[in-house]
This record gives sequence, C-alpha cells and structure tokens, in this order.
Amino acid sequence: MKFAARMLGTGSAHPEKRLTNDDIARKISQFGVETNDRWIRDRTGIRERRVIDVQNSAETNSSLGTQAARQALAMAGKTAADIDQIIYATCTPDTIIPSTACWLQQKLGADRAWAMDINAACSGFIYGIVTAEQFIRSGHAKTILVVGAEVLSQFVNWQDRSSCILFGDGAGAAVLEQVPAQTARRLLSNHLLSNGDLNGLFLIPAGGSKLEVTPERYHQNLHKIQMNGREIFKVAVRTLVECAQQALAKNQMTIGDLDWFVPHQANIRIIEAVAERLQFPMDRILINVDRFGNTSAATIPTVLDEALRNGRIQNGQTILFDAFGAGLTAGAVLLRW
Ligand code: UT7
Repeated sequence: MKFAARMLGTGSAHPEKRLTNDDIARKISQFGVETNDRWIRDRTGIRERRVIDVQNSAETNSSLGTQAARQALAMAGKTAADIDQIIYATCTPDTIIPSTACWLQQKLGADRAWAMDINAACSGFIYGIVTAEQFIRSGHAKTILVVGAEVLSQFVNWQDRSSCILFGDGAGAAVLEQVPAQTARRLLSNHLLSNGDLNGLFLIPAGGSKLEVTPERYHQNLHKIQMNGREIFKVAVRTLVECAQQALAKNQMTIGDLDWFVPHQANIRIIEAVAERLQFPMDRILINVDRFGNTSAATIPTVLDEALRNGRIQNGQTILFDAFGAGLTAGAVLLRW
C-alpha cells in the first residue's frame, strides 16, 4: 500500500442540559423506582450526564454531530468542501431513513462528499475510523470525516434503574487524511471483532422491521433499551483486555510503549478492572464517564478531543483506543498522534 491514514483534527459537543444522579432519582421515583447518587457513583463512577432538550426540535443527534465536525475541521485546517466522505457512527439516528450522515452533510454543506451511517453501537467510532482508513489506503478518498454521536436519552427505559442511570447524549468527530504509507504520525493497526451470539445482552427489541411498535409494545417499553448489565460487565472486561493485548502484540509493543489508553467509557469499574489486568497506570487513561456517562459511539472521540485541547496529548504520542458495544461488537485502534 502506498498510503496510510492520519488523524488530523478532532471535535466534540454535548447538550447544555445536565442530568445529575439526584435528578434521575427524582425522575424515576414517579414510576415507583428507587435509586440514589451514592449507588450510582459507587457502582458506575457517573456523577452526571448531558441530555438533549426535547422542547428544542433543533437539538438532535446530527446537530451535535455538526458542532463536533466543525471543530474537527477547524483543528485539521480543512473546510466542508474538502471532505470526500462522511462516516457517521450511531445507533440512535435522527431518522431511520435518511441516514444521520446525510442530515449532517446538509447542515455542514459538505457538497462533494458521499455519506453513510455505521451501526456498531458503542464500538461505532472505532468501526468508523477503520472503515475510513480502508478508503484512504486504497486511494479512494483523501479526506474523511468520521463522527461518533448518540442521543441515547430517547431510548432509555426510565423504569429500569440498572440501565437508565448509565447513558448520556453527545458527539465526537475526527478528520482523517491520506498520508504516505511510512509517515510516523498515522493509524498503526486495528483489530475488530463481533459475536452475534451475544445479541441478547443489549438490545432494543421493537422499532425495527422485525417488531413494529404497537400501542401494547409501547406500554411494555419494547422500543427502549434492554440490558443484562452483569453479563455485559464480564464480557466487556475480557474483550477489552483481549483487544488491547492483540493490538500490542501485532505491533511488538508493551504497555510501556503506550502514552495513552482510551477505553470506551461505560463504567469506571470496567475501566479499572481492565487497567488492573493490563497493568496500565490509571493516570495515563483518559476518562470522562464521570461527567457525561456512557455516550456510546461518542465516548472515545469526546474524551480524546478533550485531552488534545487541554494539551495532555502531545504530537508523536502513541494512543490505544479500545471499545465494546451491543452486538457484541468490539475493536481496538492503535495510532500515533
Ligand atoms: O455499552 C454497553 C452498555 N452497558 C454496560 O456497559 C453495562 C455494564 N454493566 C454495568 O455497568 C453494571 O453491571 C451495572 C451498573 C449495570 C450494575 O452494577 P452491578 O454492580 O453489576 O450491580 P448488579 O446488577 O449486580 O445489582 C446489584 C444490586 C441489585 O440489588 P439486589 O438484587 O442485590 O438486591 C440491583 O437491583 O443493585 C441493585 N441496583 C440498583 N440499586 C440502586 C441496580 N441498579 C440500581 C440503581 N440504584 N440504579
């Protein structure tokens, strides 16, 4: 291959509206469901999350994605006219058709680009980057915008206290650019996997073509998230460790060669368990789950963008992204910034 892909710029956006743990405790008490700030902090590390304002019809998945994309383009020194392709990772699209990528294209005015969505749930941003990398390496595209964005607040079942406390809304974006194959600052390798046998651990049963949302199913909340938290926890730790080890082995690297570890932000206890097994120091792990909860495909690009803008990540540093999500999907990307 003559070409490689380099990440040139990132951006992020969250809604203004905060939902603290106490707010959730109050909100779900109307359904006779109990929770409290202490439990949520101890078991998840989450203090608050952001959610869209449903009274404001302009605040949508694609509007958050557009804000993040504009920042990423500015950091990369690019404009919307430079984009060849838009890859939008989301499992909470503005509409089922058209794709959220096309709504973003319209908002951004990226007239030259072609646009598509990818649904790999929380692994979506990683799947998006890896897909973009293939188009860049094969010479089909020079500049690709990858967005990971979710509005999970619209799919949460507020009567299920084990899942409704976890999720938040947000968007992250990255601009990838074609560079010569041996350029030092580039995506170094990727490792993707999925296991459809675990589909039942995390799903929204109704609202697709398999199960229409009838009034009866609506009242049963079948159009909302169903989750087996304990099982996901175990699979997540095992899978994140495996993907990280594979990424390191493929590049003949050890933990000591990494400057930063950027895991999917689902639960601080998952991150701590993975860090312990990998013997990765917590002070080199990027974390934003405390402030934003699990924003699915947006967790990695948003926490990455924050660390780039506050100067924690420096040019030439080596970073490992590592995610798992519904499917069960998973993947790691190793890159030099
Ligand atoms: O991207 C994939 C998204 N999903 C995930 O990443 C989920 C991964 N899993 C988790 O994060 C954790 O399993 C949870 C946070 C969901 C649950 O934490 P846990 O430590 O595994 O708790 P648990 O399910 O074992 O439940 C312990 C107790 C139960 O009560 P009993 O049976 O011991 O009396 C639950 O009913 O905690 C209770 N509980 C709660 N109590 C207060 C569950 N949720 C809550 C709550 N507030 N929100």
